[in-house]
Amino acid sequence: MDGKSLFITFEGIDGTGKSTQVAILAERLRAFGFACVETREPGGTVVAEKIRELLKSIRAIRWSAEVEILLLTAARRDHVDQIIVPALKSGKIVICDRYLDSTRIYQGLSDSKIRAVIEDIHERIIGISPDLTFILDLSPCLALERIRGRGIDDRYFESYGDKIELLRQGFLDLAREHPERCLVVDASLPAAEIADIVYGEARKRCE
Ligand code: TMP
Repeated sequence: MDGKSLFITFEGIDGTGKSTQVAILAERLRAFGFACVETREPGGTVVAEKIRELLKSIRAIRWSAEVEILLLTAARRDHVDQIIVPALKSGKIVICDRYLDSTRIYQGLSDSKIRAVIEDIHERIIGISPDLTFILDLSPCLALERIRGRGIDDRYFESYGDKIELLRQGFLDLAREHPERCLVVDASLPAAEIADIVYGEARKRCE
């Protein structure tokens, strides 16, 4: 089906089920004939996946927000050039697990000067913003329970400590700042229920 191109992102703290919802949404849209590209950040291209590995490997050390922003921007620019823009130009729906809002929150939350740098870099070097963003909202307690349930190393999550609640609130604030594109979804609901809400909203934007 030839559709209107659409750029959808999923955001939220770790453990909210974003990756699951990306996969379900893509599958449901494809079943109705929409061409979809599923992707993620940091990552999505060979170079950006290398940068993802680098960022993940240094998690225990934690570089400065500035260094992380530069690495994330390099990864994002490559991702935008090679995957996101070509897919949108050919009328596809791009569904991305994390994007700029994650940088705004993870790197920029606690420092308004850094947040301004993120906005500036985005405007000058990246340029493209999502049409629709699902913010999956969950209490840090439940999120941590899910991460542990998946057998994933939770040291990084735990290293944020009390900051996780601030990150969560940061995402909710972003949703209030950008009501035209952001929809907050209660991530404590069963996955199938979340998928229905997400699919309904996405379809409205595909018409
Ligand atoms: P995830 O893809 O498994 O959620 O892991 C990505 C991690 O990278 C997650 O902890 C959030 C973090 N991240 C940032 O800190 N800034 C960013 O801009 C992005 C896209 C991710």
